[in-house]
Amino acid sequence: MDPIIRFENVHFTYPEGEEEILRGVDLQIEKGSFVAVLGHNGSGKSTLAKHMNAILLPSSGKVLVRGMDTADEAKLLDIRRSVGMVFQNPDNQIVANVVEDDVAFAPENLGVPSAEIRQRVDAALRQVGMYDFRMHAPHLLSGGQKQRVAIAGVLAMEPEVLVLDEPTAMLDPQGRGEVIQTVTRLCREKGMTVVLITHHMEECIGADRLVVMSNGAIVADGSPAEVFSQVELMEREGLDVPETTRVLHELGLPTETLDAESCARLIAEKLR
Ligand SMILES: Nc1ncnc2c1ncn2[C@@H]1O[C@H](COP(=O)(O)OP(=O)(O)O)[C@@H](O)[C@H]1O
Ligand SMILES: [Mg+2]
Repeated sequence: MDPIIRFENVHFTYPEGEEEILRGVDLQIEKGSFVAVLGHNGSGKSTLAKHMNAILLPSSGKVLVRGMDTADEAKLLDIRRSVGMVFQNPDNQIVANVVEDDVAFAPENLGVPSAEIRQRVDAALRQVGMYDFRMHAPHLLSGGQKQRVAIAGVLAMEPEVLVLDEPTAMLDPQGRGEVIQTVTRLCREKGMTVVLITHHMEECIGADRLVVMSNGAIVADGSPAEVFSQVELMEREGLDVPETTRVLHELGLPTETLDAESCARLIAEKLR
């Protein structure tokens, strides 16, 4: 299958910087998959994300979105419509005083006819479970609700890929749960391709794939269970692993499962 996003040996240095921030990234994101990107602060996650919809262009190498080169100016609009971005701070993403106007803002700017906007806004709000709040004032919502409205605003552009750059960083545990549940459902039920950037290990457990970044390079890539089972590597990167993995690792048992029940079964067998 053709990947929907493809990085080919991407190197990147900020114009005003001296150090290389991306150091030869090769990455393919399959359509409909849920990919989590984990890495400590400064590892280059946001820089990577901004290459996915041509906010940044590689210094060398290539990024292709649905086969379109992000460096091709003629394709810029198409690329921006294909890949929607959600950022850390929901307050910076609110542009209107009523939830439904906020969600309508982007499609209005794209020149979508008003009858279709109505449909898209309602559909997007339902998809994030915020339809009942459509007449509310966004600034009075909780952090998790605001972030779900921001996601609805991106969905109203009908993108094929949703890239979320630490969308839960400013939220309390409940808000974090709401956002992760929402994006997981969008992937599983609507076939949306999701790239979730995070530094919370527990947000990666439900992903199809986990990519670990360190110092501008990908240092691990596989299923969450596969990646977390590399306990020494994760420790070296200053990243946590799930409790199940840690217990199995300490007992010298195979760490290929993240599920608490299978973990308990492995331990019971060992004790027998
Ligand atoms: N606009 C910029 N100009 C110069 N350096 C930057 C800029 N933005 C980020 N950096 C540097 O790039 C590195 C990676 O940053 P970033 O991609 O934001 O990492 P992360 O999202 O993983 O925390 C950091 O060392 C940061 O200081
Ligand atoms: Mg970042």
